[in-house]
Amino acid sequence: MTHPLHAASADAAGETTKQQADELVLEAQLQPLADGGVETSRLLSEALRLDPSNHDAQILLERLHQMTVPRWHFPMLADTGRNQAYAKAIAEKVKPGDVVLDIGCGAGLTAMLAARAGAKHVYTCEQQPLIAAAAKEVIARNGLSDRITVIPKWSHDIKIGVDMPEQADVVLSEIVDTVLLGEGALATLTLAMKSLAKPGARCIPESGMLFAQPIESDSLYEVWRPQAAEGFDLSGFHHFATVAQMTPGEFDVCNPRPLGIRAKLFDFDFTNPSMKDASISGNLVCSEAGMVHAVLVTFEMRLTARITVGNGITAKGHWGRTAFLLKHPEAVAARDMISITAQHDTAALSLTVDGIVAPEATSQSDGASTTATGKHEMAASPARVLKLATS
Ligand SMILES: C[S@@+](CC[C@H](N)C(=O)[O-])C[C@H]1O[C@@H](n2cnc3c(N)ncnc32)[C@H](O)[C@@H]1O
Repeated sequence: MTHPLHAASADAAGETTKQQADELVLEAQLQPLADGGVETSRLLSEALRLDPSNHDAQILLERLHQMTVPRWHFPMLADTGRNQAYAKAIAEKVKPGDVVLDIGCGAGLTAMLAARAGAKHVYTCEQQPLIAAAAKEVIARNGLSDRITVIPKWSHDIKIGVDMPEQADVVLSEIVDTVLLGEGALATLTLAMKSLAKPGARCIPESGMLFAQPIESDSLYEVWRPQAAEGFDLSGFHHFATVAQMTPGEFDVCNPRPLGIRAKLFDFDFTNPSMKDASISGNLVCSEAGMVHAVLVTFEMRLTARITVGNGITAKGHWGRTAFLLKHPEAVAARDMISITAQHDTAALSLTVDGIVAPEATSQSDGASTTATGKHEMAASPARVLKLATS
């Protein structure tokens, strides 16, 4: 039987430990998150080491992880189509002895694939320090710490001679959102190819394309532009809903019907990227009659000449979809054209629907003109149209 005095001192020690854990939790709550949550995470982890059942520490750590580690990491890592495409492309393009720069380490998957493909060394950067620390752990557990260096920095802060001993033979990345540009891929790759890669370095992905396609979907409109709720008219709120962003599940529920094949908007060469803005105006041709509710924008990335990934209308991967809603659903007949203008800068795409053009209003000629700014414009006559390339 435990001596009552021993039991009392054990209780007192337990109380002190719990008190210390509570103090660490209080301190954690006062930390600014400017360091990406590193100090907050350290204090909360220490509190949980002292008192594993500290409820406040558990909750705060979970909240910190939700704030700092975007939830799309998990379905992305479970997207076997994406993973296999990258694995094949990396095996094809990375040669034994290559120095690889992997921009955007995440959990470390693409960096480990490059090491497995025979890279002499892989430098992988990750701007989020908690993610970078976890990747280091993943890489260590896979026995690759001697072949992969995790640099907990933005790629644009990497210095040759400090973070990497030499420029890369291959620049590898997967830093795209549903319309390719939202994670800043153009600026990131332009800077990386200029200063962190050897002349003529290989790139994975090599290029990317954006496409537009007219779709019919009552449900898309019902979800994004509900007319009324509980008898109240909500139309005064609709102007905020010009762009619908959907997870793959939400997109499937909308059951979209394509009213025409997709047309190419923009091409991006990632081996020789540019930070120039561009815009294009033109017509999407309807191949079927129906009600057009939106223009769906999707991408395709060419990882190698033969391997592509993307989020086309029937794709099954983790990437969501972006659809630009018309102000009002419009009835279209086969051969009608939907006049659109799209533009992009280094981080965003926008698209407006300018109207529906009946086929008799158009001539056979391609009235495209390109100004010095690279802007493709429709010719002055509304009858002349710029044909968008189709795929
Ligand atoms: C889409 S994940 C891809 C992760 C991993 N490469 C993969 O394919 O599984 C992109 C990661 O890159 C990071 N990231 C994006 N742009 C970056 C940049 N320019 N420099 C450093 N990290 C970046 C993000 O924080 C994110 O964790």
